[in-house]
Amino acid sequence: MSGTETELPPHVRRIAIIVAAGKGERAGSGMPKQFVDYLDKPLLMHSIEAFADWPLCDAIIVVIAPDQIELAQSIVGNEPNVSFVAGGDSRRQSVLNALQSIASYESDTRVFIHDAARPGLSLSILDRLDNALDSARGAIPALPVVDSLCRADDLSIVEHIDRTELWRIQTPQAFHFGSILKAHGEWNVGQEATDDAMVLRASGEQVVIVEGDEALQKITYASDFSRSDLTEPTLHNTRIFRTGIGYDVHRLASGDELWLCGIKMDHEKGLAGHSDADVALHALTDALLGAMALGDIGEHFPPSDPRWKGASSEQFVKYAAGLVRAKHGEIINVDLTIICEAPKIGPYRQQMRQSVADMLDLSFERVSIKATTTERLGFTGREEGIATQAITTVAIPDHQE
Ligand code: CTP
Ligand code: MG
Repeated sequence: MSGTETELPPHVRRIAIIVAAGKGERAGSGMPKQFVDYLDKPLLMHSIEAFADWPLCDAIIVVIAPDQIELAQSIVGNEPNVSFVAGGDSRRQSVLNALQSIASYESDTRVFIHDAARPGLSLSILDRLDNALDSARGAIPALPVVDSLCRADDLSIVEHIDRTELWRIQTPQAFHFGSILKAHGEWNVGQEATDDAMVLRASGEQVVIVEGDEALQKITYASDFSRSDLTEPTLHNTRIFRTGIGYDVHRLASGDELWLCGIKMDHEKGLAGHSDADVALHALTDALLGAMALGDIGEHFPPSDPRWKGASSEQFVKYAAGLVRAKHGEIINVDLTIICEAPKIGPYRQQMRQSVADMLDLSFERVSIKATTTERLGFTGREEGIATQAITTVAIPDHQE
């Protein structure tokens, strides 16, 4: 990989829009189906919790009939990042109201438009759609049709239909915000739109299919609430764990500053190097890259590149953490061992843990900093340099492997 072309991963916003403003007339439950209990909680909560558990989701907009917003708020409680928008008379109008509520957002924001009536949303579906949006303006989950199909008139078959090119469309449907907002603006409002892929296609854009999920089937009728083929989302069962290890050494020299874990230390010598020479953060960067098998720090930030002269190593760590998150990974923990005779690390330990936790956007408990001497043996013992070992565990969706 050419280091000179390396750029920090941009933070693209991802917004969930859950439409739940329908009347649920076919389910005939007395109250709209999204508020009816399914398994152990109101139907709507399944989709909200699935999006909330997706590490890449920045915000959730729930579209609710205007007179039911208070009811929805009481059901949802204080789930963070959830806001409510009043729905319209049709599903299409409900989606449009949500899109217009974020009209000022960047056009490359990704929106995931989902029916509250589909409770079986899994993390894998969201990841598949998100990956597809890297090269398409719209992506939807769909399943092939397996039954034979026919057209009939008064229960008499008129013709058989070739099913080989037919798919059953599901939600969430994922779009680049700018494209879907424009498409909805251009839609002929007199015409029925059964989904948002239809709206985007009408604007001349292509929509790609990713593999759907039987568990995503829609609850339409009262009997669907007890269907056995609609199962709980398997959100937490689909991750695998990977470990990465890193090691780095920098030379101690007079006249240099000493930075460790992003903290400037009080010491008569400092570490020499092209960047700020924060040996602990370099080892940590390598551990994160190692967990993802994405090369090493020298490949991503070559010492020959003048951009990294005197650079704060915090950006290397944040870059590597960004690569983990770009693969939908979660950093479970990091553990560093700083090997030096002096200075004493103990007085700085908690400050260092907080510093690393902040740059990784992790809780303090997930970060460990340890230190050891080498009994005055070797280069660290002679205070010629400082070494650091780092190890990390990350969890990533299993299909990302
Ligand atoms: N929806 C919406 N606003 C509307 C109509 C529908 O937000 N004006 C939502 C529903 O709440 C549902 C999704 O769109 O989550 C799919 O619609 P559907 O399954 O047809 O639900 P309902 O319209 O509520 O049901 P019915 O057609 O049986 O009345
Ligand atoms: Mg409807």
